[in-house]
Amino acid sequence: MALLKILEYPDPRLRTRAAAVPEVDDRIRRLVADLLETMYAAPGVGLAATQVDVHLRVIVMDVSEDRSQPMALINPEIIGREDVGSGEEGCLSVPGVTETVTRARRIRVRALDPRGKPLEFDADGLLAVCIQHEMDHLEGKLFVDYLSELKRQRIRKKLVKSARRDGERAPAI
Ligand code: NI
Repeated sequence: MALLKILEYPDPRLRTRAAAVPEVDDRIRRLVADLLETMYAAPGVGLAATQVDVHLRVIVMDVSEDRSQPMALINPEIIGREDVGSGEEGCLSVPGVTETVTRARRIRVRALDPRGKPLEFDADGLLAVCIQHEMDHLEGKLFVDYLSELKRQRIRKKLVKSARRDGERAPAI
């Protein structure tokens, strides 16, 4: 396994739209293992392949309190959405920034697991937020895109400054 470098906003590579995984093979399982290791080390609760400059539809997360439930979704799709709610979000690619984002509270998800087996399940709470957030990354979208241009400008300035200081990181997705 290997720790991968996480791209930071406003890096233009974060805007790349990820391609579908054609086959879940050992290369993809290695990517999943590296993403999980990188996510736990950061530390974060979720990470998308896009954030490590690999443009394939793979996301990982662990929303458990004791960090014991790694989850990886390949070619994830949201096939149902219910209710809308707002909550604070952060992102490993936007270190030190948390803002309120509005998303579906409950979702139904279809994906492949790391063995290539199809999954379909309902998610709510932090897991639902995390899956939507990570799936946005696969579309080249960041949570700051939901904010006003003024707020985004402030965040860009702050990140450029903290990059110079080798900035500290808050737990984030
Ligand atoms: Ni993120």
